[in-house]
Amino acid sequence: MARTQARQARYACQQCGVVHAKWTGRCDACGAWNSLIEELPREALPKRLEASGGRVIGFVGLSGPSMLPPRRLTGIAELDRVCGGGLVPGSAILVGGDPGIGKSTLLLQAAAALAASADRPGSTAYITGEEAIDQVRLRAERLGVAHRSVLLAAACNVRDILASIDRSDAPELVVIDSIQTMFLDTLDSAPGTVSQVRGAAQELIRVAKRRGFVVILVGHVTKEGVIAGPRVLEHMVDTVLYFEGERGHRFRILRAVKNRFGPTDEIGVFEMSDRGLVEVPNPSALFLGGRQTEVTSEDEQGDTIPAPPVSGSAVFAGMEGTRPVLVEVQALVAPAVLGTPRRAVVGWDGTRPAMITAVLDARCGLSVGANDIYLNIAGGLRIAEPAADLAVAAALLSALSETPVPVDIVVFGEIALSGEIRPVGHSEARLKEAAKLGFVEAWVPRRSSRTRNNGGSALEITHIGHLGDLVARLLPKRARSPSERIGVAS
Ligand code: TYD
Ligand code: MG
Repeated sequence: MARTQARQARYACQQCGVVHAKWTGRCDACGAWNSLIEELPREALPKRLEASGGRVIGFVGLSGPSMLPPRRLTGIAELDRVCGGGLVPGSAILVGGDPGIGKSTLLLQAAAALAASADRPGSTAYITGEEAIDQVRLRAERLGVAHRSVLLAAACNVRDILASIDRSDAPELVVIDSIQTMFLDTLDSAPGTVSQVRGAAQELIRVAKRRGFVVILVGHVTKEGVIAGPRVLEHMVDTVLYFEGERGHRFRILRAVKNRFGPTDEIGVFEMSDRGLVEVPNPSALFLGGRQTEVTSEDEQGDTIPAPPVSGSAVFAGMEGTRPVLVEVQALVAPAVLGTPRRAVVGWDGTRPAMITAVLDARCGLSVGANDIYLNIAGGLRIAEPAADLAVAAALLSALSETPVPVDIVVFGEIALSGEIRPVGHSEARLKEAAKLGFVEAWVPRRSSRTRNNGGSALEITHIGHLGDLVARLLPKRARSPSERIGVAS
């Protein structure tokens, strides 16, 4: 019985690996279309491989001379940083992002910038399957790069593209905009289908590796925000970048989610202007927006009077990769009108605010959690660090008490469930950035070895050991002694 079952055909989904007994157009498990392929049952496979027929592989040590050519800087520093310090020749990069976010703009600028520093004409190629030549030319005109020597083509057939670039004088960089529009004429399915996207990418990457040029593939994203097409596309390339940004904001963030040649926590910050994307070397100034003038007013006009501080706002000294980024955390606490209090969080992990309010209630004797709570990271940046806990708590308490946090203070620290404030990494870099932007004081966790000596910065350091200490600062009327603090309900 078991034998006959094993002999039956099996259909494995090439996306998620689930095996089906019958062929269907759509995988029941992952929902992918056209991904089921018949696999031979084990008995039908050839007999066990014998080692005797194989060629012996020569193993080598980990150290030794490497033949890799040096990285190629594009000239767009933010892009180079995200790629780990320039493009690696022979590598494949996938750039995903929402429609209209600026992928084509970024890559046309990158192609033009690389062409500007190339030693021969025609060293970069931009192949579009989405737009007409005239549209790309119009954009190049607008970006002020129309005079650069970029090879431009509108093509979709991978066979034609390979015939043009698989040669000894291949360009250094080939941009394919987008991989979903490319097709192999050897496959029956329509462009954009799983097998076409995978097949086209495979061919382009193979040639890029052989000829040693960089291929950048633009990938569409689905409604869920992942790159459309097979997930394997992300496995096939060396680097996956996402270009993101909020609709209402002008700035765009380039983020590495996979990088075989560099770190994945770096971000590149750009601002979309009427002449294309402009690099933002100092993102803190951008994200702090209106606040910045209050803090650094002395640099510009001597002694301007600072604007009155508002409650419900605190500046978080965060890290994005190796770069410190200061952002404003805004909070609003309002009496709940419905039975279940509302929580709306923009730009931060949605579950952490609930934890912070629970700690405030349980460990500090407050009843914050019964209110409607709105949290916003100003400027539209997305924060992933638990180090933002203390800044969020400060903004919440400030909103609750209508006591402003002084404008020249930065805050960071992770809140433990016990209410203790835990030290976080990179304190020194955070403090330095804050000092550079004119902040004078920092509220930081207590036992951080680095902050003991001010981190070498000019900031005045205030150690916050327990969330209760923060409550005492921002809700002075509610202050209790530490012994009273535990277990008191309001
Ligand atoms: P685009 O690069 O076409 O986006 P994608 O390729 O990701 O779909 O960018 C289109 C948007 O960028 C469009 O809404 C207009 C805006 N834009 C500017 O604001 N300034 C510019 O100089 C350019 C070229 C585009
Ligand atoms: Mg585009």
